[in-house]
Amino acid sequence: MEFITAVGRPDAIKTDAIVVGVHADGELTPSAKTLDSASGGVIKGAVKSGDMTGKRGTLLPLLGLAGVKSPRVLLAGLGDKHDFNERHFTDAVRNSIRAFNGAAKNVTVAALDWQVKGRDSEWQACSVAIAARETSFRTDELKSKRDPETTGAHTVGLLLKARNAAAERGLRYGGAISNGMELTKRLGNLPPNICTPSFLADEARKLAKLWKLEIEVLETKQLEALKMGSFLSVAKGSAQPPRLIVLKYKGSAKGAPVVLVGKGITFDSGGISIKPGAAMDEMKFDMCGAASVIGTMRALAELKLKVNVVGVVAACENMPSGAAVKPGDIVTSMSGQTIEILNTDAEGRLILCDALTYSERFKPAAVINVATLTGACVVALGGVNSGLFSNNDQLADQLIAASREAGDPAWRMPIDEDYQEQLKSNFADMANIGTPGAGAVIAACFLARFTKAYPWAHLDIAGTAWKGGAAKGATGRPVPLLAQFLIARAK
Ligand code: BES
Ligand code: MN
Ligand code: ZN
Repeated sequence: MEFITAVGRPDAIKTDAIVVGVHADGELTPSAKTLDSASGGVIKGAVKSGDMTGKRGTLLPLLGLAGVKSPRVLLAGLGDKHDFNERHFTDAVRNSIRAFNGAAKNVTVAALDWQVKGRDSEWQACSVAIAARETSFRTDELKSKRDPETTGAHTVGLLLKARNAAAERGLRYGGAISNGMELTKRLGNLPPNICTPSFLADEARKLAKLWKLEIEVLETKQLEALKMGSFLSVAKGSAQPPRLIVLKYKGSAKGAPVVLVGKGITFDSGGISIKPGAAMDEMKFDMCGAASVIGTMRALAELKLKVNVVGVVAACENMPSGAAVKPGDIVTSMSGQTIEILNTDAEGRLILCDALTYSERFKPAAVINVATLTGACVVALGGVNSGLFSNNDQLADQLIAASREAGDPAWRMPIDEDYQEQLKSNFADMANIGTPGAGAVIAACFLARFTKAYPWAHLDIAGTAWKGGAAKGATGRPVPLLAQFLIARAK
């Protein structure tokens, strides 16, 4: 799906379909008014007859309006103008694009009329692109027949009265963010027998080649030389060797880089502390943090943002075997701190801590790690907000602002020193799990012990990276949040 701008009057533009909004009580948006006059009152007529009430979520297709060049007009009910928010905006775009059942290949949306308080045309354009593209995503590469196309729209145009640089920029942002999200979803959805640590490394190599990123892939010997005893302890129960993938994007001659660190557990069985069987297949999504780092690198390379970013992905499987790490084992992390592993299912923090220590070498301006880290975060925040933990208020504020702008929300959680007590071990510097309670916080506090050298934030995306049930699949989050954060930084 491509995005273009369509400059002109809605009645004069010729596309397969044009979408205009109607607010509650039948109040027409400016483009709807223009079409109404051009067609001799057809739209007001539809309001009068009660066919279009303007109620949020309703749609009314009209065919062959006299005086309107496009053969189809879709009226989209937007609801009350005064509480029209970001979610209403993107829902209206998604519903509209889905409404044509493949009949319209080129759809023009008059969405700059749809005003959301505090949001400009750059935001509107970016959001149109992301929401529209979401309707066309399919995961069928492993089915013997492709799934039918859900929308059929090949080109989505944004209607503009006149050229508008901010809207054009927004479409570009939205297109690149969508490309990044789709890569993230694809990697997340691939099964764990295909999407292994070496597969992720190969995908990262392809990305690097295509987008001229620097790449380095470290294998077991090199991880041993770096003394990543914690990361290696998780990997050693598996027949699949671990990989540490380092992608570098240089968009600016100066400036310390932002380092993005992703949890890439390509399958989390729990290890010797094995998980129960129900929904265990969903632990293929335990590499969604890694996938979101890779997807974000793609988006920012496409946008040629003037920032420097390093992506670090720690990838391995967490499996039980005769060689697997055991509860009670004590390992030495790259930082020199020793860890008593009391539960092998708390493995994300064990691979991340070494990747976080490794990140010090980039002298980073900030390090942001992304991980499907704890079931406790799902209990706390569900599928709406990602959990945000940070040792730096400014960084946390910037990430929260980016998350709101991107419609990819995060909620800040505490990491007070007082929680650290729960990680006490009688035999090592720390245990890898705490006493019961505050599981998402304890995991973050564990990571905080390895991130004292730089401003750091941790996004726990356990609840937001994928959906279960009938709509099972990766969401592509938090690519919009991370991309928006980097866009703001580049400005
Ligand atoms: N990958 C899981 C976290 C997870 C669980 C994400 C469910 C999404 C849904 C992580 O490795 C894990 O197993 N965490 C344990 C930690 C516990 C043993 C302290 C958990 O959350 O139960
Ligand atoms: Mn686990
Ligand atoms: Zn895990």
